[in-house]
Amino acid sequence: MKAAVVNEAGAPFTVQEIQIAAPIGSEVLIDVQASGLCHSDLSARIFGIGGAFPAVFGHEVAGIVAAVGPDVTEFVPGDHVVGSLIQSCGECLHCLAGDLVNCEHPERTERSAEQEPRLSLDGQALTQGMALGGFAQQALIHARQLAKVPEDLPWAQAALIGCGVLTGAGAVLNTANVKQGETVVIIGAGGVGLNAISGAVVAGATRIIVTDIEDGKLERAKRFGATHVINSANTDPVAAVLELTDGGAPHVFDFVGAAPTLKQAIGMVEQGGTMYIIGIGGPTASLEINALEFLVGRKNIRTVYMGHSDMKRDIPMYAELYRQGRFNLDELVSKEISLSQIDEGYESLKDGSIARVVVTDLER
Ligand SMILES: NC(=O)c1ccc[n+]([C@@H]2O[C@H](COP(=O)([O-])OP(=O)(O)OC[C@H]3O[C@@H](n4cnc5c(N)ncnc54)[C@H](O)[C@@H]3O)[C@@H](O)[C@H]2O)c1
Ligand SMILES: [Zn+2]
Ligand SMILES: [Zn+2]
Repeated sequence: MKAAVVNEAGAPFTVQEIQIAAPIGSEVLIDVQASGLCHSDLSARIFGIGGAFPAVFGHEVAGIVAAVGPDVTEFVPGDHVVGSLIQSCGECLHCLAGDLVNCEHPERTERSAEQEPRLSLDGQALTQGMALGGFAQQALIHARQLAKVPEDLPWAQAALIGCGVLTGAGAVLNTANVKQGETVVIIGAGGVGLNAISGAVVAGATRIIVTDIEDGKLERAKRFGATHVINSANTDPVAAVLELTDGGAPHVFDFVGAAPTLKQAIGMVEQGGTMYIIGIGGPTASLEINALEFLVGRKNIRTVYMGHSDMKRDIPMYAELYRQGRFNLDELVSKEISLSQIDEGYESLKDGSIARVVVTDLER
């Protein structure tokens, strides 16, 4: 089968013919139909933070079940599924408490080093990015990393639920547990932050204040449900939020995670409120805290990993909300490309008018 392989750090995505093993145990073989371009895979390609090379990345993946291992009872061939990078064993105390993102044995959804590799190229094992490897015609994935979705869900929209939607909406609904009537601030209206807006609409937040540095992103944010928008390139966003909220918001989500936005987020939090760090603004982005000021202001900080999602519950939930017209997935899909165009696809993400790019032509 064909896969977009990255042969070494910094090398491009190159479509090559590779081998994929047959499913064993709890594994599911899927015929990939769509694979979203998330920034983390670009970082993995450039900086080598996604495992050894050569590697097949791609972690926003949707497809049709082609075959299942002998221990799989949840899926049958023909099912439509969406993958998630949340690797969980289902047996440790964290998993049993529903805290899947903190599973103690995520490696149990992978094969061990002694087993035949899932992906190989002329006998050499390939890294399967995030145990998914979605930039390929087929993917061999543990059943615990897949959720079933309705057959009428469009493929590109389905794929995006797997990372950007789980993270953005999950930050609001799971991590922050935003209540009806509350105010939220969302910093950065990109492919993930837009889903936080949708999550806040679902939660019944009264005021959804969004900041970005591009007017086009803010216009789109309004279409997702932002009630107030602030362009922080030409307006002081902290002063604007303090004025709008009469002293700060209970929930401030930073989808940029750079030093300036982290500082802004703290300044926007009301007494007793919380800022949530989701964006990864680079390896050195940091935040200095004055302990006294923080304590006096009773401010809190939380990190958000994959929106603290329970993917088996949440993926079908977002799919259903979309079908009812209550969750905007259509406007996340700005462009559909083929497997050979992943590098160009990432390049086009620099254009502010693009929210997300999805591979939907697998070149079969
Ligand atoms: N924590 C997690 O589990 C998790 C999961 C997925 C992605 N992420 C991270 O979330 C972040 C957002 O991802 P994305 O795909 O939405 O990226 P994106 O590039 O699509 O969006 C970022 C947005 O922030 C805006 N922006 C940039 N600088 C800004 C500033 N100073 N003030 C306000 N807005 C600013 C940009 O214009 C853009 O609209 C990334 O850092 C990504 O790595 C985290
Ligand atoms: Zn991602
Ligand atoms: Zn576990």
